[in-house]
Amino acid sequence: MADLTGKRALVTGAAGGIGGAVVARLRDAGAIVTGTDRAKTAGDHTISGDLTDPVFCDSLPERAHAAMGGLDILINNAGIITRGKITDATDDDFARSMAINVEAPFRLCRTAIPIMAEAGGGAIVNVASCWGVHPGPNHPIYVMSKAAIASLTQCLGIDHAHQNIRVNAVCPNEVNTPMLRTGFATRGIDPVTAINSLNASVPLGRIAEPKDIADVILFLASDQARYLCGALIEANGGKSVQ
Ligand SMILES: NC(=O)c1ccc[n+]([C@@H]2O[C@H](COP(=O)([O-])OP(=O)(O)OC[C@H]3O[C@@H](n4cnc5c(N)ncnc54)[C@H](O)[C@@H]3O)[C@@H](O)[C@H]2O)c1
Repeated sequence: MADLTGKRALVTGAAGGIGGAVVARLRDAGAIVTGTDRAKTAGDHTISGDLTDPVFCDSLPERAHAAMGGLDILINNAGIITRGKITDATDDDFARSMAINVEAPFRLCRTAIPIMAEAGGGAIVNVASCWGVHPGPNHPIYVMSKAAIASLTQCLGIDHAHQNIRVNAVCPNEVNTPMLRTGFATRGIDPVTAINSLNASVPLGRIAEPKDIADVILFLASDQARYLCGALIEANGGKSVQ
């Protein structure tokens, strides 16, 4: 396992499926973690707030820095999925998805990078999606937002490598989390049956568990990924976007 002893990490969406696994993995690897989410969440330090609030986002890296005595790692994990064709989408669907999936990581990177640069470097890991690289059907707002975070990752990976700040992203296919399960439930589909059928569609035989994605994030945050800048790592069990 990667050794992150003494590293200080800020994780968004820390109460969620992937976020919770990331917090646990980071702590197992020796990192000190500030978790943030809308409600109280896991971590050595926790800061609750809404990422659609620009003032909250802009202040978060500094608050995490103050709480932990430094900020070496930022994991932009929080996200929402808006389903349906563009003709079904409301203004609020668009604004909310962009605020959480794109604007919040933009704001957090913008504030965290100078803090990391001042300290000699750091690592940022964004949670994009395989759909941000290969668009899937009937989710244009989500796909567009994940393409934006993938693009932001590539841009910042180039722009801030000279400051010893590595910016990379993981791009998962389906992961067994509340996001996936509640999506089935709201469409009146039994999540267990749906996940069994999804498992059969993956060449490795199962969709990802949160810890499968957390391990990729841990790798990207660690010195083991020391030469990766702007990489989009697809974690898909061999399943292409359909
Ligand atoms: N589950 C999947 O199949 C899958 C696939 C590809 C990518 N992803 C991405 O992985 C990331 C994590 O998703 P997950 O599956 O763990 O989902 P999840 O719903 O379990 O967790 C998302 C977390 O983000 C938090 N969040 C949402 N809006 C927020 C806001 N306004 N302010 C603060 N926190 C907010 C939620 O409270 C939740 O705890 C997301 O960016 C998602 O797009 C998930």
